[in-house]
Amino acid sequence: MLRLKGKVAIVTGGATGIGEAICKKFAREGATVIVNGMPGDPVKEVVENILQMGGQAYGYSEDISEAKYAKECVKLTIKKCGKLDILINNAGVFPIMKQTHDFADEAFYYMLRNNVVSMYMMTKYALPELQKTRGCIVAAGSESGTLGLPFNTTYGGTKGFIHAFIKGVAVEQAKYGVRANIVAPGPIDTAWTHDETGPMSVKQEKMFISATPLGRRGTPEEVANVYLFLASDEASYVTGGLYEVDGGITLSKGPVGLEVPGKLAKEPESTLDLEHTMEGATSLE
Ligand SMILES: NC(=O)c1ccc[n+]([C@@H]2O[C@H](COP(=O)([O-])OP(=O)(O)OC[C@H]3O[C@@H](n4cnc5c(N)ncnc54)[C@H](O)[C@@H]3O)[C@@H](O)[C@H]2O)c1
Repeated sequence: MLRLKGKVAIVTGGATGIGEAICKKFAREGATVIVNGMPGDPVKEVVENILQMGGQAYGYSEDISEAKYAKECVKLTIKKCGKLDILINNAGVFPIMKQTHDFADEAFYYMLRNNVVSMYMMTKYALPELQKTRGCIVAAGSESGTLGLPFNTTYGGTKGFIHAFIKGVAVEQAKYGVRANIVAPGPIDTAWTHDETGPMSVKQEKMFISATPLGRRGTPEEVANVYLFLASDEASYVTGGLYEVDGGITLSKGPVGLEVPGKLAKEPESTLDLEHTMEGATSLE
């Protein structure tokens, strides 16, 4: 059975990393997906991939932290599909790793805009449509929104905002039949957690992996699996929840990941045809 048959979903930041996996997983499960990304993100490619695999998708390449584009994204969805069932607030950025006393103000404002303002704008403009369909929201939190994040303290702060914001939305919107939940990933195998493609140093990469009880990064698809459950009707009694998809890092103390034997620390093979997992938003340019 297709778990999202007949549903219409917007996925913000849907062209790279975890977002690409969500788009492809949702399309495979029968949803029509509106793939949003910044101008310059491989939105068109992801839409084409989905169409080639027999799914339904449309692209929307604009910065949804701007009210006019958030509004337009929802409007386009209604124009093309007639309704909106699911909003996946996945867009986010992770530009630098620096201690707070050396942090660039520009990087802080960049994260406020793309992690916080974008979440608010899309939620605000999608809610009237979600109320009509008794739809749902799933938002990208982070273990760092609970624990804080040394060397990118303001990123952790933006994720803490998201946790509280979505919990408030969940309680407020329940009377309209709208559910809202948070997925809080740990270190995931995207551009953000590799020295070659993002701001983390090799030492920081190793620290994250050794602090993770499962001894490895999670894959984008492993995160998309939890988005799928929360967005589906199977989660009809779940709202205001925070689902950790973090290999246990939120609970761990010390380098417990080093205890995991190599063969158990292997990532599972992806079942999705992912091409843009290492092309994410990791700089201020
Ligand atoms: N990778 C991790 O380890 C990790 C851990 C915890 C949480 N997360 C969260 O998961 C989400 C996805 O992360 P990822 O690793 O896949 O990163 P990614 O950079 O691959 O994906 C994020 C996408 O969002 C897009 N985006 C950012 N701001 C936007 C805006 N205003 N309008 C439209 N598109 C915008 C980016 O261009 C990018 O394509 C983020 O919200 C992140 O905070 C990731």
